[in-house]
Amino acid sequence: MPEFVHRKGTNSYKWDTKPEGAPEDIIPMWVADMDFKVPEEIINALKRRIEHGVFGYSFRPREYFDAVTAWLSDYHDLNVKEEWIVPIPGVVYGIAATIRLFSNSGDGVVIQPPVYWPFFSVIKDNERKVVENPLKWDGMKYVMDYEDLERKLEIAKILLLCSPHNPVGRVWDLEELKELASIIKKKDVIVISDEIHADLIFKKFHSMIEVEEIYDRLVVLTSPHKTFNIPALHVANAIVPNPDIRKKLLSFTKALHVFGANPLTVEATISAYRFGKRWLLETLKTIENNMDIVVEWAKDKDYVSAYKPEGTFLMWLDFRATGFPDEELFNKLLSAGVWLQNGKSFGEQGEGFMRMNVATSKEIVEEALKRIEKAFS
Ligand SMILES: Cc1ncc(COP(=O)(O)O)c(C=O)c1O
Repeated sequence: MPEFVHRKGTNSYKWDTKPEGAPEDIIPMWVADMDFKVPEEIINALKRRIEHGVFGYSFRPREYFDAVTAWLSDYHDLNVKEEWIVPIPGVVYGIAATIRLFSNSGDGVVIQPPVYWPFFSVIKDNERKVVENPLKWDGMKYVMDYEDLERKLEIAKILLLCSPHNPVGRVWDLEELKELASIIKKKDVIVISDEIHADLIFKKFHSMIEVEEIYDRLVVLTSPHKTFNIPALHVANAIVPNPDIRKKLLSFTKALHVFGANPLTVEATISAYRFGKRWLLETLKTIENNMDIVVEWAKDKDYVSAYKPEGTFLMWLDFRATGFPDEELFNKLLSAGVWLQNGKSFGEQGEGFMRMNVATSKEIVEEALKRIEKAFS
């Protein structure tokens, strides 16, 4: 089992901030990082590097690229060539860079809300236009609306996918990605596939890398951030099979003078990908167990419903039966002592929903559920 660690006093957004007026003992379940200590191998690698005592200008060695491709091959059966990899400081950086390179001011970027809220802001901050292709609920799960997508891509230069999808927790089937590719093929668009949650899965993950027919327009973004709970180490990789797109992305990053590497980040990444699998599988069991607890708890509640996601450590809870608008619902839960991410921050479609991060201890999840129950009884 991964080790739960108290994080107060570490400048953590999750544990060391709170909305004004929230109770002192608020349980934070919003930001998407985990309350678990990282794999021992990462800590040891960092210790060794720190002990060396010199942190001069450094580069990423061959072992870094080997570790990334070996992980993708071993964990996902993906065949990625080392030369396709463009190291970047973060996934959202990769989205921003690709948007800037392959569209102009005012151009449309299609996203599939309800979706990770920075997708909206990264588009707006770069003076592009958000074009929504909302997901649909088919009675069992969220699915893509292909007909609407076909229309929306007419007025866009970029499609930004979330795969697996945050917050609805879908791990897209290969058939769904292929259907998507058949539409994309007919349009003049670049596809960014944000696969940051790819390793946190409860079924087989399929990457856009498996869809060769769109290699001429594809940027896949991966990172060990979520997988091994190291998002503050700022490490991600764009995987770009097309040499022209790759060259542009490399030159852009160079033009911003983002080069060299943090030696601690390099050590952490290599050891995470080489030795972190066992820790990850145990962590997934803990997360899955917490999800089961929430789903079971919600079964006899008339004010909330919950389903088990196919991936991520995030749950998309449906509070629409309460009739409370977004802000009121958020505040009610906050006063009860639970800080969830409000649904509307993921788009209009999130009205009445709340996102809950369950990558924490079972005890904390159970206490949060008790507090929610009290708020609605
Ligand atoms: C879908 C998605 N993309 C990107 C990020 C953040 O990526 P990074 O910290 O590498 O910029 C998150 C974090 O929650 C996320 O959920």
